Amino acid sequence: MRRIHFFLMALAMLAGSIAWMVPASGQADKAAPPIYLTKMPSGFRDWQLISVAHEAGKLNSLGAMLGNEVAMKAYREKTLPYPDGTIIAALHYTHLPNAENNTVFGDVQSYTPGPPSNYQFMVKDSKKYAATGGWGFGSFTPEGKAFTDAQMKTCAPCHAKASRDGVFTQYAP
Ligand code: HEC
Repeated sequence: MRRIHFFLMALAMLAGSIAWMVPASGQADKAAPPIYLTKMPSGFRDWQLISVAHEAGKLNSLGAMLGNEVAMKAYREKTLPYPDGTIIAALHYTHLPNAENNTVFGDVQSYTPGPPSNYQFMVKDSKKYAATGGWGFGSFTPEGKAFTDAQMKTCAPCHAKASRDGVFTQYAP
């Protein structure tokens, strides 16, 4: 009887320590760093135009901002915050003088997109990306290779400064 008692106690202690270990690792998962997109959203090249932008300086890029259907509806109806399912793409290209166009114009005045420099995305999922304002960030090389986590850490703090739910780009009429 005593031996069984001891055995049961040992079993209870073992179970207790396992029970303690399980939630501990579960908690560690919850506190995990923000998740970044690992794949480019499919079909983004066919989305509608939100706006265009030229960055001078070091970036010297031409950009096109496109939105999926949820994004376009939210933009047109001025819905804030953006609903879950919103995806905004920022396609950045090098900014190059266009020789053919410039010959026709007789002056160096035409600049058109050269090869892409990167494709960036913001995906709204208020639960999954709660730690970064509800936005999941993604940045990719033209070949679709995701930037490293270290490169991605800058996105959310800067976008938090945008006054319209973390989004800078406004709808171009
Ligand atoms: C220093 C601040 C800053 C950082 C860091 C930054 N962004 Fe932005 N982002 C901007 C600004 C400003 C715009 C608007 C640019 C324009 O229209 O000329 C923008 C535009 C965008 C857009 C289009 C939607 C919008 O908010 O206008 C996406 C998508 C985007 N950035 C993704 C990213 C990703 C992904 C990262 C991290 C790799 C990142 N950004 C890092 C400032 C920043």
